[in-house]
Amino acid sequence: MKTQVLVTGANGQLAKTLRDRYIKNNLALDFLFVSKAELDITNKAQLKDLFNHHHFDYCINCAAYTAVDKAESDNETAYSVNVNGSKYLAEVCQLHQTTLIHISTDFVFDGTSKFPYKETDTTKPLSVYGITKLKGEQAIIKNLEKYFIIRTSWLYSEYGHNFMKTMLRLAQEKDQLHVVSDQIGTPTYTGDLIEVIFKLIISRNENYGIYHFSNSGETNWFDFAKAIFEYSHIKTELKPIPTEAYPTSAKRPQYSVLDTTKIKSTLDICIPNWKDTLKVVLSNRLN
Ligand SMILES: NC(=O)c1ccc[n+]([C@@H]2O[C@H](COP(=O)([O-])OP(=O)(O)OC[C@H]3O[C@@H](n4cnc5c(N)ncnc54)[C@H](OP(=O)(O)O)[C@@H]3O)[C@@H](O)[C@H]2O)c1
Repeated sequence: MKTQVLVTGANGQLAKTLRDRYIKNNLALDFLFVSKAELDITNKAQLKDLFNHHHFDYCINCAAYTAVDKAESDNETAYSVNVNGSKYLAEVCQLHQTTLIHISTDFVFDGTSKFPYKETDTTKPLSVYGITKLKGEQAIIKNLEKYFIIRTSWLYSEYGHNFMKTMLRLAQEKDQLHVVSDQIGTPTYTGDLIEVIFKLIISRNENYGIYHFSNSGETNWFDFAKAIFEYSHIKTELKPIPTEAYPTSAKRPQYSVLDTTKIKSTLDICIPNWKDTLKVVLSNRLN
């Protein structure tokens, strides 16, 4: 029997990339994609019902409350999805011996480090979103034996809402753009993250725990925007600004580069540099 994989949050950018890659790769895995309308992870009865009627070897949790600024005033919903939803998923996975692959974030750190964050570094989220994502991790660790929590950063793709798509849209609307240049991190293409998730499943890896994954290298939002425009042959003028000049409801870590040594050695992989991947993504978009 083929390995059975449940994917939650099927309309999000990560899940859409997953579906895309799965179709292209023709993998020997059976996927069931469920959107929020089909499975609300905060609804225990729905979860119970689905798991009672299907067997899943893996559940990839792409469902999350991801509106970082909105979460500051809508903390109840953020808590409900990112904490309770993660807990209920962990409980049902434990009951049915399903391995959970859960996605978390660099926003669990406060950004005061001068070195890339390791999985064992102290967490100290600055925002409601970061707090709820951290509490979600803790609920999984407490309630489930077989889990992979993958913290990633600055996700972008051809789908949904993300920085790359916002910059491409704004370039059509404005002659000049101001972009924050003093927050350092690493853009991560959803397709590269999905390849790692496939590798975890196909290799039947059992080294459960927390992992960091991002593309390699580091940059700031201004230089990320510059690269997006350069690779797309866009001439819109870009100006760097400090964080104080672009106030947002949620505070973001000033430095959130992730150390990916653990996942590289566990899966024996090389991780592409963010610029190389971005070039390919944008050239595919133009063709
Ligand atoms: N985006 C980033 O820059 C970034 C960075 C680091 C980590 N991450 C993490 O990566 C993961 C994937 O992010 P993404 O960018 O793909 O997010 P996304 O595009 O916002 O997708 C999240 C999906 O979850 C769904 N959802 C919300 N509440 C739900 C519920 N109660 N039950 C079931 N589904 C629900 C959403 O549906 P609706 O749209 O209908 O609400 C949406 O389709 C998340 O865990 C996120 O925290 C993201």
